[in-house]
Amino acid sequence: MKFLFLLAALTSFLPFTDDVNEPIPVARPSASQTLAEASPFHIGFAISPARIQNIALYRQTVIQEANSITADVAMKPSRISPQKGVYKFEEADQLIAFAQSQKKRIHGHTLVWYIDTSPTWLKQIRDSTELESTLQSYIQTVATHFKGKVASWDVVNEAFDKQGAIRTDSLEGPGRPTFNVGKILGKDYVARMFQYAHNADPDARLFYNDYAQETRPAKLEAILAMVADFKRRGVPIHGLGLQMHISIDTPDAGIENAIRRYAETGLLVHISELDIAMNPDKKKDFVPTPELLEKQYEKYKFVVSTYKKVVPASQQFGITMWGVDDGTSWIPGFCKCADNVLLFDANYVKKRSYQGFLEGLKE
Ligand code: G3I
Repeated sequence: MKFLFLLAALTSFLPFTDDVNEPIPVARPSASQTLAEASPFHIGFAISPARIQNIALYRQTVIQEANSITADVAMKPSRISPQKGVYKFEEADQLIAFAQSQKKRIHGHTLVWYIDTSPTWLKQIRDSTELESTLQSYIQTVATHFKGKVASWDVVNEAFDKQGAIRTDSLEGPGRPTFNVGKILGKDYVARMFQYAHNADPDARLFYNDYAQETRPAKLEAILAMVADFKRRGVPIHGLGLQMHISIDTPDAGIENAIRRYAETGLLVHISELDIAMNPDKKKDFVPTPELLEKQYEKYKFVVSTYKKVVPASQQFGITMWGVDDGTSWIPGFCKCADNVLLFDANYVKKRSYQGFLEGLKE
């Protein structure tokens, strides 16, 4: 009886265990070190609060393997401010509560992004003065709300196009309002957003985050030029995010070059959204053969070992996986094809890619 009381008292402190229908987490034997245990730098996962609450193995995997958390969607403007002047922090706060209860670092993602800035109300603003003050006030409100809770922010996400110019149009399809923040506010808007974020939370490390620097040299150069310009002018920037949505065919030289060039800035370097596709050509008859899984293992090992080798320890902000398991990855929905891009399969069993990541950490 005493034991039952003790058990009830203990479980009442666990996060998200109030759902009586929730399956009890399965304790997996874990003879080996987890990624977080084996790593000299932070290991992150992009996660959703709903999955943390509803999928026991997802939650257990995050708790065991990661020590840093990024919200995949919950901290984006579309979720935080669905209507003009309305702020909804519940979902993000739930994620923060989970991360804090598990003593994980929280990386904020993202304050300004031309895509997931839909709320439509924001995309409809065409006047530059109104848009500037709206974004300033959004950043002030949101960064203040999370002050002391998040270690860092992706302040602006994906501001450059593949030619290295500031984006002035949206990738979103016809019929959907675009958010031409670069066109309306001009190239220097990125610097001003960093300044607003710094004013609101001077302790947060501020990142610029983008994709495809490993295959698009013009974009890489444009980002590096922006950093040099910010440094000259004293614009507060502390880190760079390499998203790294790559594939088994992405050339190693491009990956190494992007990591090296970022490290040379002296800023923190975050591999911020790592996943490695095995079906980049979106083949309809895709099957994850042992050969492909082996190539994926090699690529994970290369990315992780290169990051560890090339980025000085003081600049290693960490590596964040964009998702936990192949069953909940964003890739199949995006490419409308089958793929298995992450470290755990849909049953949360470690893949060969997990082994590659681990070996990369130990190299
Ligand atoms: O939660 C709603 C659900 O209630 C609704 O029924 C359903 C109908 O479409 O939508 C669900 O929301 C979706 C959400 O993901 C959660 O799954 C949104 O429509 C969908 O737009 C959203 O996509 C996310 C996307 O960013 C846009 O925010 C992806 O999950 C997320 O992986 C992706 O992440 C981005 C990074 O932020 C930036 N870099 C690229 C990366 C991949 O696109």
